[in-house]
Amino acid sequence: MSRRPKQAAVVFVIAFAAAQLVRPERANPATEPSRTIQAHVGTANGLVAVLDRACRDCHSNATVWPWYTQIAPASWLMAHGVTKGRKAVNFSEWAAYSAEQQRLLLHPETRLSARDIETICAATHHAEANGSNR
Ligand code: HEC
Repeated sequence: MSRRPKQAAVVFVIAFAAAQLVRPERANPATEPSRTIQAHVGTANGLVAVLDRACRDCHSNATVWPWYTQIAPASWLMAHGVTKGRKAVNFSEWAAYSAEQQRLLLHPETRLSARDIETICAATHHAEANGSNR
């Protein structure tokens, strides 16, 4: 019985070490400056600064990969998220989108904030409490 925890620890260490052999690509593709959103929207209105701070790591080719993204399984999660994020919208490839797509992608007012979601949930609970369907 007392050997169980030790065996489990050994198995864990081996699995963790083996996991490090699976190294996802953490590459930042080359960026053509004229194709970026910076080049198209300009830096004057502050939008680009926000995108750069809040969205860059998942939605551009200029991802910053912190040290822990060298280590599985964090490396897998981050690489997966970045791949998905870049596929959804890549601000480094802004020129690839049509004018219509660009408008849609940059419509932050149509997105729900945490506050909006709270409001909707609260209203829904309220409606349920009143036995109403609407
Ligand atoms: C931690 C990674 C991450 C960050 C940070 C992030 N996103 Fe995303 N975003 C994603 C992923 C992943 C998807 C794809 C979602 C899917 O495919 O289900 C996505 C999808 C999108 C889409 C397209 C999907 C839709 O809802 O129509 C837009 C637009 C978008 N993100 C904008 C932004 C903006 C603007 C920011 C910064 C304020 C941001 N994202 C920050 C990961 C991220």
